[in-house]
Amino acid sequence: MRIVVGVTGASGAIYGYTLIQLLSQMGIEVHTVYTEMGEKVLQHECGVSLAEISRYAHVYQNNNLFAPIASGSFKTQGMVVVPCSMHTLGAIANGTGEDLLTRAADVTLKEGRKLIVVPRETPVTVIHLENMLRLARAGAIILPASPAFYHRPQNLSDLVSFMAGKIFDVLGIEHNLFQRWGE
Ligand SMILES: Cc1cc2nc3c(=O)[nH]c(=O)nc-3n(C[C@H](O)[C@H](O)[C@H](O)COP(=O)(O)O)c2cc1C
Repeated sequence: MRIVVGVTGASGAIYGYTLIQLLSQMGIEVHTVYTEMGEKVLQHECGVSLAEISRYAHVYQNNNLFAPIASGSFKTQGMVVVPCSMHTLGAIANGTGEDLLTRAADVTLKEGRKLIVVPRETPVTVIHLENMLRLARAGAIILPASPAFYHRPQNLSDLVSFMAGKIFDVLGIEHNLFQRWGE
């Protein structure tokens, strides 16, 4: 299995970092692209560099439109943009494809593969909502970074695991990252 993970400069770098680690630990091939701000926020919020990420994933420069994930002929089982800034959300919703992350997202949609977008912003404007609606209509799954509390999280890791588990559910990957309601 092969998954693309795009990471932007929205807050919540730990969501992307954790997802990449978990996918890799499950033996899934991970291809990753960070935006320039994504890399900066990762350093700011987690104290982690792209060198650390490359232990778990193939890491591409966002200006490298020659990378495999820029082409639909490179088969993947889907892409997750986590966390997704309102800037990148707007770019994907408009199909600009001017950098590797937005191009890879565009390719994922045009090939009919799963595109999971994890927006992180609050409050949101009508512009943000319209961009989400546009993406959902194009087939993307909008999965807001809003962890639940019914599983009684005890720490940050429990909250992050909940979000990773919700992403795994959409990707169809079995996991026990959180206790399900009713089980
Ligand atoms: C520490 C920090 C946190 C930020 N958090 C968010 C956020 O949660 N959501 C968002 O849409 N933008 C956030 N921004 C602003 C984005 O980084 C900015 O819009 C940037 O242009 C996004 O670029 P990118 O989409 O290419 O990563 C944040 C910026 C900083 C410095």
